[in-house]
Amino acid sequence: MYRTNNCGELNLSNVGQEVTLAGWVQKARKMGGMVFIDLRDRFGITQLVFEEDTNAELCEKASKVGREYVLQVKGIVNERTNKNKNIPTGDIEIIVSELNILNASEVPPFTIEDETDGGDDLRMKYRYLDLRRAKVRKNLELRHQMAFETRRYLNDNGFLEIETPVLIGSTPEGARDFVVPSRMNPGEFYALPQSPQTFKQLLMVSGMDRYFQIVKCFRDEDLRADRQPEFTQIDCEMSFVEQEDVIQMFEGLSKHLFKTIKGIDLADMPRMTWHDAMKYYGSDKPDTRFDMKFVELMDVLKGCGFSVFDSAEYIGGICAKGAATYTRKQIDALTDFVKRPQIGAKGMVYARIEADGNVKSSVDKFYTQEKLQELKSAMNAEPGDLILILSGDNANKTRKQLCELRLEVARQLGLMKTNEYSCLWVVDFPLLEWDDETQRFYAMHHPFTAPKPEDIPLLDTDPGKVRANAYDMVINGVEVGGGSIRIHDSKLQQKMFEILGFTPEKANEQFGFLMNAFKYGAPPHGGLAYGLDRYVSLFAELDSIRDCIAFPKNNAGRDVMMGSPSRLDQAQLDELQIKLDLKE
Ligand code: AMO
Repeated sequence: MYRTNNCGELNLSNVGQEVTLAGWVQKARKMGGMVFIDLRDRFGITQLVFEEDTNAELCEKASKVGREYVLQVKGIVNERTNKNKNIPTGDIEIIVSELNILNASEVPPFTIEDETDGGDDLRMKYRYLDLRRAKVRKNLELRHQMAFETRRYLNDNGFLEIETPVLIGSTPEGARDFVVPSRMNPGEFYALPQSPQTFKQLLMVSGMDRYFQIVKCFRDEDLRADRQPEFTQIDCEMSFVEQEDVIQMFEGLSKHLFKTIKGIDLADMPRMTWHDAMKYYGSDKPDTRFDMKFVELMDVLKGCGFSVFDSAEYIGGICAKGAATYTRKQIDALTDFVKRPQIGAKGMVYARIEADGNVKSSVDKFYTQEKLQELKSAMNAEPGDLILILSGDNANKTRKQLCELRLEVARQLGLMKTNEYSCLWVVDFPLLEWDDETQRFYAMHHPFTAPKPEDIPLLDTDPGKVRANAYDMVINGVEVGGGSIRIHDSKLQQKMFEILGFTPEKANEQFGFLMNAFKYGAPPHGGLAYGLDRYVSLFAELDSIRDCIAFPKNNAGRDVMMGSPSRLDQAQLDELQIKLDLKE
């Protein structure tokens, strides 16, 4: 038996017992005639003591072990004189009588403690060492618990976990596919699934009724803090349901996770239409932890001789509570922020509400105090508040800019508290999105999403106005999940493909299998997928989903530990009959 206990469980009730522990050396120090070692495993840290007086040889051996050596020790649990209140084992220590060095370690490239001296790149390269740190390990433990509670909830609700293939045919779902060449079928490729969307719909045709899968998905898209090229979905589908049934079921899953993992009783989630989300927050994933809703100011500010506003299609403002103390320098920095090319605003107008209620703005010369008072009441502003205004000739673009400004101001004012959760459903998405560049419609969610039945006639007359039976769950401004009721009628599905610009041949080539399946009694169905990585990182209060993934890719999509992606041997390429023509 390697050990009788782990390094996180011994306390005063064990005093006097002989125990055997195994683990890694986090720290070793010599003091007078004693050697102290902090022995670490997944469960915690226990202090080992070696006394020269009782066993000089053993003490000498202990003084030679270095950081991250793997040890096995036998000893007696003893009450400490110097207690450490910060760790659960802090009341005891082990007076060691036997020391077995199971493995030596080179000096690690960074300190393996909560506060480490290792930079991002170094820790990524030695990710297996980074994972020894409690801070990082805890994220994986949380991830496990969330996946476990998800399975429990879905199993209790009659869902079957069914695996779907990873080598599939390429289907467009918005992002680029990762592809895999087939040796046995030269010149042909599999694609890795962007999601198991079509398979879960086929499982409904098969009569599986309720399906789920905690599943890897792959998307070749530009990476951000909340995006990885391979990520994990909690993917679900249900038969004989309407939108309300799906929303209730998965709101229930969220309530279960909040309760069991965080101890939070989640209230019923409010719903917001996509239209309102865009109008009041300039985003389809509004962060509702704080207010600062947009107020449209066209009626108030147009026609007073300020040409920027007079010629604008849209003028919108936010009221930053208590931010009238912002200095000129801070306001200039905000102006620079919105003018960055990624945001693209031309400028920003501000108005301070002074203690006496007067309004002082950056465009005072165009507006009377009376007019500015009108602005103040439109914005519901009070003394001490700061009003920030953007305008532009494209309402949607300007709203997106104002959204970035709102989030930046909230960040600066400390309103983005990571331990507070504000959840909502965004509903009534448009079914289609027009793209000026390619002059065609794209599916806003995916091509299988059902239009609202009452909007179906609009498909022929004004497709851009059709609303979808689609819904996203948003928590703290993060889209944690999304889904829809699906089209289950092959004729309507065919029509959707037509509107999306597929010729009948192309639609048949790519989706013939699905449309065929729909000819054999497809039940009404719908579902949703949560992004597990995003959900875990919200619960763990992380800035990036990378930190809750055991072996993530960096921002360039590389695994710096394995050195992937990498070149193939010529022999491998030959076998696949692939000739490279790299433009280097
Ligand atoms: P969607 O594309 O909205 O829907 O994806 C569902 C959820 O997956 C998460 N997600 C990601 N997480 C990390 N990195 C990424 N690159 C990434 N892309 C998406 C998000 C998102 O809400 N088949 C449909 C679901 C359905 O209709 O049932 C789908 O994949 O949290």
